[in-house]
Amino acid sequence: MSVAINIENVIKRFGKDTIIDGLSLNIKEGEFFTLLGPSGCGKTTLLRMIIGFNSIEGGEIKLDEKLINHIPTNKRNMGMVFQNYAIFPHMSVKDNVAFGLKRKKMSKQEIDEKVDEILKIVKIDHLRDRMPAKLSGGQQQRVALARAIVIHPEVLLMDEPLSNLDAKLRVEMRNAIKRIQQQIGITTVYVTHDQEEALAVSDRIAVMNGGVIQQIDTPKRIYQRPANTFVATFIGQSNILDGSIVKTQAGSGIKIFDAFFAMENLSENCAYMQKVSVSIRPEEFILSRDNKEGIKGIIKSSVFLGINTNYFIELENGKEVEVIQASDSLEAIPDGSTVYLNLQTDKINVFTDDGTKNLIRWV
Ligand SMILES: Nc1ncnc2c1ncn2[C@@H]1O[C@H](COP(=O)(O)OP(=O)(O)OP(=O)(O)O)[C@@H](O)[C@H]1O
Ligand SMILES: [Mg+2]
Repeated sequence: MSVAINIENVIKRFGKDTIIDGLSLNIKEGEFFTLLGPSGCGKTTLLRMIIGFNSIEGGEIKLDEKLINHIPTNKRNMGMVFQNYAIFPHMSVKDNVAFGLKRKKMSKQEIDEKVDEILKIVKIDHLRDRMPAKLSGGQQQRVALARAIVIHPEVLLMDEPLSNLDAKLRVEMRNAIKRIQQQIGITTVYVTHDQEEALAVSDRIAVMNGGVIQQIDTPKRIYQRPANTFVATFIGQSNILDGSIVKTQAGSGIKIFDAFFAMENLSENCAYMQKVSVSIRPEEFILSRDNKEGIKGIIKSSVFLGINTNYFIELENGKEVEVIQASDSLEAIPDGSTVYLNLQTDKINVFTDDGTKNLIRWV
């Protein structure tokens, strides 16, 4: 049932504005694929091109090998879930879900069976006769999801389906969506600008900015080995510090202020003295008061968060970095203390100084 979606060099223009200028990506059969990026980067525009609400000004979109550029939406066999649910307020849960089936001219019994089956999958079978006004936000979103998948589409598209829900319900619903997607094995394209949500649900993520794909990879690889400083700072938090490449007979490494850090995974392309942007996540620092080696700083403030404590530390040039350490001692290190920062050199990322290329060698 599921299909691959092959997008080749597509172009989208609105009047004179080119929003997407030659974008390619291949989504695998049965994959949970997420488009992630800041507001206005073109996520919805691309989704609407896939389902056929937007024209395509160049390039090709194929389902497996079949070109669909000019196939109308109602012939594309895709289901879509929107941010605002778009369920019919005057119809019961059951009638909302049955709506797409009625257009397929099935018998009443067949429709009832299919509706019941899907309501069980999305766990609202006990609400089948309720009207939407008497449902919670999460329940309404389950109706919208049931309505999209009851027609057995080849592709499921979701545009920020959880953004109207409160934080706790979002987490609950994203787990439900992931589970249902795995259960029915449908190729899914999911749009969000919430990076944690993307990491939690996706098989792979495409990070977009300004209509351009920055990186396509698994959540773990995107987090651990971002392709450039945009991805490093958009996904999770990263402190970006200026540094330079140092090469000695003993090996190579990076220098930040006066501190040298040996690195075993720098790419061959690094040149001696090359200026670099070093990206360090808050948890990749090792903070010490006694070991007087490393990058020197002064604690400006700290926040106790239970398992961890966040420290905001000012470096010699006035730049502030955020450091996360396990709250293992009873007392937090007091504000004003001088500390030294060392780095988990196998985890940090080193970019060219313009931030466009990762200089870590990895497999
Ligand atoms: N119908 C339209 N006519 C003209 N410009 C449009 C149209 N639809 C979208 N755009 C423009 O295309 C760009 C991308 O918009 P899009 O809605 O795809 O962003 P998005 O990534 O979904 O953002 P958000 O996270 O805010 O939903 C924006 O600059 C937007 O103004
Ligand atoms: Mg959008």
